[in-house]
Amino acid sequence: MILPAIRLACTAFSICTVSLTVFAQQPATIQPAPDSKAWLLSAGEMSYAVAINDAKMPQTLYWGPRIPSVAGLPPAKMHPEIASQEPPINTTPLEYTAWGGGLDYTPALKASFPDGNRELTLVFDKAEQSAPDTLEITLKDAIEPVYAHLYYQVFPQGVLARWTEIENRSRTSMTLSNAASATWNLPPNPLYQLAWLTGRWGGEFQLQRDAVSPGTRVLESRRGSTSHQSNPWFSIGDGTTTENSGPVWFGELAWSGSWRIAVEETEAKNVRITGGYNPFDFAYPLAPGASLTTPRFYAGYTASGEGEASRILHRFQQGVILPQAPKPKLRPVLFNSWEATGFDVSEAGQISLAERAAKLGVERFVIDDGWFGQRKDDHAGLGDWYINPQKFPHGLAPVIDCAHQLGMDFGIWVEPEMVNPDSDLYRKHPEWAMNFPGRPRAEARNQLVLNLARPDVRAYVFGFLDDLVSKNKIDFLKWDYNRTWSEPGWDQVPLAEQQTIYVKYVENLYSILAELRKKHPNLEIESCSSGGGRVDDGILRYTDEVWTSDNTDALDRLSIQEGFTHAYTPGIMMAWVTDVPNFLDRRSIPLDFRFHVAMSGSLGIGGNLNKWTDEELTASAAQVAFYKQVRPLVQQGLLYRLTPSIGEPGAWVTEYVAPDKSEAVVFAYLHSQQFGSPFPGVQLQGLDAAATYALTPQDEAKAGSLPQRATGAELMGGKLQLTLRGDYDSTIVRLKKE
Ligand code: GLA
Repeated sequence: MILPAIRLACTAFSICTVSLTVFAQQPATIQPAPDSKAWLLSAGEMSYAVAINDAKMPQTLYWGPRIPSVAGLPPAKMHPEIASQEPPINTTPLEYTAWGGGLDYTPALKASFPDGNRELTLVFDKAEQSAPDTLEITLKDAIEPVYAHLYYQVFPQGVLARWTEIENRSRTSMTLSNAASATWNLPPNPLYQLAWLTGRWGGEFQLQRDAVSPGTRVLESRRGSTSHQSNPWFSIGDGTTTENSGPVWFGELAWSGSWRIAVEETEAKNVRITGGYNPFDFAYPLAPGASLTTPRFYAGYTASGEGEASRILHRFQQGVILPQAPKPKLRPVLFNSWEATGFDVSEAGQISLAERAAKLGVERFVIDDGWFGQRKDDHAGLGDWYINPQKFPHGLAPVIDCAHQLGMDFGIWVEPEMVNPDSDLYRKHPEWAMNFPGRPRAEARNQLVLNLARPDVRAYVFGFLDDLVSKNKIDFLKWDYNRTWSEPGWDQVPLAEQQTIYVKYVENLYSILAELRKKHPNLEIESCSSGGGRVDDGILRYTDEVWTSDNTDALDRLSIQEGFTHAYTPGIMMAWVTDVPNFLDRRSIPLDFRFHVAMSGSLGIGGNLNKWTDEELTASAAQVAFYKQVRPLVQQGLLYRLTPSIGEPGAWVTEYVAPDKSEAVVFAYLHSQQFGSPFPGVQLQGLDAAATYALTPQDEAKAGSLPQRATGAELMGGKLQLTLRGDYDSTIVRLKKE
């Protein structure tokens, strides 16, 4: 479909006003220019142009709305030297720069050689399209046969993937101390605003915003894994951007190890974003003939605000990234024992919970921590993956069979990468835990991290998981990872190779997950790391869902879940209804509100059902049944975050629309009413303006002045009045095209 031409200012890499035609839902294409020195990469509503300039270096020509060809773009040319302090290598928007030639900004690559040389000058060697959607531009050092293969892959969802393979074809070894996937250059604009996600345990995915200003803002994890503290996602608006309008350049790095994204504004006012392996403590030797491939760095552009940027990422994860893509199965309603029983799991206790869970309509029953080894609390047992004979004298079969007979599938918690010093595994293999020789080993939650980079540790971890899944009818693993790295030593390999642990650990993690899934094709896996500490597009290629946060307080969850949806699809965002007062904030929130918050992601139940009253159980069963009706919309529809446009603190609204606009569901939450003020009017989005929709509230008693039917135009143009009163009130309204 061709949309009308629109007028845009300043999207190319020189100040200009151009008239552009925007295409929507266009196929992803790569068009070489007639001279084969420039390429137009188009994906969804975005185009990206790269060209080889007069210094034979690849230069970003354009990143913005879809354009038909590179013909109207300015030529690729090194910027002139403005001052001796500003060499062109610093002021020209180059695609992939190695440190050398006076580069002062974050290099994509930094290498050192045994002869004392520590620089590279990467210039064009050749380019080829290995597939219709993939371009490979090969760069070579001006002197040494050292190559950087820059890969570009376009996806119809509107995403461009970039990654790089560094190849040493010289006769000597070299060592990389920095290897980024890509540098993304934005068109010049002094008003850019950056959004990024930070957090902590129990407080993940908090959205931060600040102006992009001269200097470097570093988003990173040095912890060996993705981290709660920072998530590898960024979004940049031009100063006019809102949730619903304005340009957004956004990206996320697919890597579950230490990572870094540097957002820089140079002296020439260029904004460049370089991301990949974290250079902190990084040293990766490349012997002659060896190569290193960086993680994928995905990015996109939309002219339609932060909401659309998120929807592009959601579609991309659902359509490309997730293991069951392009058609991931709906997430089953889950029960998990953690908050109900802690480590105190037993055959009788779990069967009693399973029976109650099944009556609520739960579809997956999961035993959490405590079922294995001598695991009474978090001091012992990690590493010993045999079924605890005191707690489960007949093995897991009675609970598994009970769950299956009750119509639920069965899942179990594992934390494969960890070991307690008080475990048979550690007593047998203390050398398997990460350590620096002769140095103390810092424990966290009384545990150490196994060095998964070691082939023997990889074999052990795959072996016990394969055995566990093969010998028991396990449908689902909750794969946990509860501490950050310390002492990342690896003294079994030569000194020069020890720091490759940052890469090889994560590669082995991915390969275990891949191998396990291949051998057990029906197995589903959740990525958990003390909550949402390992959520990224890397792990999502192997895991079907994530544990968003250990924080299950429904109020805190509203901001955690909203932040999450900026970067990740709500279809994988696990959210449980748990007991009150909540274990973390001691807050007591009504059951309906707790359900409604959890129902805006992938619903689970984590309370102690043995203590729930009959009234609570009946109400819960009704909520679960209702959730199943709206689940396809919530998990796989288009999410519109309406909270920002409401603009009133304490009022939250989200809307999920079917891709064909035939249906929608709206969730509204009120934290605390004041001064008798009515709930703010809500302007819906994404509907078919010409169609008439029937509106049905979940709870008829809350219908208030809600119209029974209205046109899409009325619902999107006017203000829908929802009747929410008092503290912790919430409602759900369904819309169906008539
Ligand atoms: C982590 C997880 C929790 C739970 C516990 C078990 O904290 O995030 O959900 O599984 O471990 O020890």
